Amino acid sequence: MKVLVTGGAGYIGSHVVRQLGEAGHDIIVFDNLSTGYRWAVTCGELVVGDLADEAAIAGLFSEHRFEAVLHFAANIVVPESVENPLKYYSNNTRNTLNLLKAVEQHRVPYMVFSSTAAVYGMPEETVLTEDLPLAPINPYGASKMMSERMIMDLAAASSLNYVILRYFNVAGANPDGLLGQATPEATHLIKVACECVTGKRDGMSVFGTDYDTRDGTCIRDYIHVEDLAKAHVMALNYMADGGRSRVLNCGYGRGFTVREVIDVVKRKSGNDFPVQETGRRAGDPAALMADNSRIKKVLGWQPDYDDLDTIVGTALAWEKIWQERQG
Ligand code: UFG
Repeated sequence: MKVLVTGGAGYIGSHVVRQLGEAGHDIIVFDNLSTGYRWAVTCGELVVGDLADEAAIAGLFSEHRFEAVLHFAANIVVPESVENPLKYYSNNTRNTLNLLKAVEQHRVPYMVFSSTAAVYGMPEETVLTEDLPLAPINPYGASKMMSERMIMDLAAASSLNYVILRYFNVAGANPDGLLGQATPEATHLIKVACECVTGKRDGMSVFGTDYDTRDGTCIRDYIHVEDLAKAHVMALNYMADGGRSRVLNCGYGRGFTVREVIDVVKRKSGNDFPVQETGRRAGDPAALMADNSRIKKVLGWQPDYDDLDTIVGTALAWEKIWQERQG
């Protein structure tokens, strides 16, 4: 298939591009390189451009006849979205609208969209099904919820088919050491802990130890980026085989506490970096895990890396490569 991958130079997008290339797809990556990297595009062609630029989008779609669009390009930092909400509504929501105008005009049949568990907000449940009401508690989650809705509405009014994937906590890296998370100001737990190992940081904080969980710290469903990437390739195959539009959670359906994650990073690295226990971070639900029965049933998806040691091991290996590469 001829596919457009927006944000394909970023962390998750670059892993998906690699798997799409291995599956034989013909790939155009469109990325403004604001948080992505040229080196991360290991298959297909990179077009540097911004989804705010409607003329650039029009040019791209007139040059290529895309059968599918995979839309990753977005800002993803929750606290930043609280401070600067319009950045999120511009870069995430409005730019998705810009992209959808071209999808509609050129009658692109298939779309895969990167959504997030942040659309669920602070649910009472800890294992989340896709049918829960959407109640995001920050502009990041709201910007993604609105994008989901636009895609659904366009699909209802046209021949577009979509798979919306709601990611839980994505971590890890390509096991060959070719790709990984290179975000400059990372805030994600596993990335932060790995940066302590390489010495990029002197230590880290645990945000909250008084949650109602097995050790008082928050529980999250960490999913390896290669398993997540596989879900995208399978979503394309599913739609090409006539599958109907779906919203699917992407997670393993189990969780680890912050302390458990830090312990694994310390054990696997043999490095005992300083960890400070501080107060709760605003907007953190105690426990979030995916009910993944739907993605397993609909796509036949099964994880290959459902093991925290493997997730942390690949993240650590990548972090060392990345820090050395930067000098
Ligand atoms: N944490 C720490 N110290 C750190 C970083 C994180 O204790 O230095 C804790 C957080 O408080 C939280 C857990 O580790 O309890 C995981 O935090 P992350 O920032 O890694 O991930 P989140 O669960 O906050 O966010 C993830 C995605 C978001 C998405 C959200 C939906 O990164 O994009 O899940 O629940 F919005």
